[in-house]
Amino acid sequence: MLTTETTSGLQHALRSHRGKGERIAFVPTMGNLHEGHLELVRRARQLGDVVVVSIFVNPMQFGAGEDLDAYPRTLGADREKLFAEGAHYLFTPGVEEIYPEGLHSQTVIRVPDLSDTLCGSSRPGHFDGVATVVNKLFNMVQPQLAVFGEKDFQQLSIIRKMVADLCMDVEIVGVPTVRDEDGLALSSRNGYLTEDQRRVAPLLHKSLLDCRDAIACGFDNFLQLESHARMQLLQAGFVPDYFAIRDARTLRAVDESTEEVAILAAARLGSTRLIDNVRHSLNPAGDWGMLATR
Ligand code: PAF
Repeated sequence: MLTTETTSGLQHALRSHRGKGERIAFVPTMGNLHEGHLELVRRARQLGDVVVVSIFVNPMQFGAGEDLDAYPRTLGADREKLFAEGAHYLFTPGVEEIYPEGLHSQTVIRVPDLSDTLCGSSRPGHFDGVATVVNKLFNMVQPQLAVFGEKDFQQLSIIRKMVADLCMDVEIVGVPTVRDEDGLALSSRNGYLTEDQRRVAPLLHKSLLDCRDAIACGFDNFLQLESHARMQLLQAGFVPDYFAIRDARTLRAVDESTEEVAILAAARLGSTRLIDNVRHSLNPAGDWGMLATR
């Protein structure tokens, strides 16, 4: 596995693969890799000939007072994991490589509507930072496909929309969330949890599953389901940011055209913000009976 910090080094190395018509699969990350990231790398290996992983803790997607400085940086361990998974290239640009003229004069990619709701409401500018850096990384790596986790479902939706709106020739592949045995979605931020908080944390996923079961059983008062779940989370010690049942395609309110709902939640345990989601397919006739879930 070759590691490079520079775009020119990466592009030079990838040239021979492109010449042979090999498919480049890209996995952008912020490092501190866990099993969830490694699953993305495995999917990239299945779908591409050459796997490029980037590690860049993107300052543009952190708001004031967020955990940019504390964000875990574990490059040595990450490199070993990627090597063991068979990744071919590791791209570790510094801030000067990505934002040579600083953040203030950087052109910003903004995906409207989708970026303003859910996590976007409590983290203003966050998704502009994500869309901008992913756009830049795509231009640097020029992959045929890129792999993202479904845990960050809103992020995945925004990237799909950006790629469609800007006619970018990159296939976006979503990979199901990897969970601990007790259901907690793997996240680099789980490491911030105290032992007590870690015991409580799986209740976030459980609240999503309970809500999904209620919908699958025909309960269609979504406002009531949302407020019941928020109350349950509060009682368990979370400070809920949102618990929302939305159209999985648009992330807007569910209506007659909705084919699949996404149930999404974000909540704080102490100072750690956790997010998670599950989805549920509705049948087009509007029958809310027992239907395929995932
Ligand atoms: O999901 C992440 O780790 C980041 O948001 C991403 C996509 C690598 C952009 O910085």
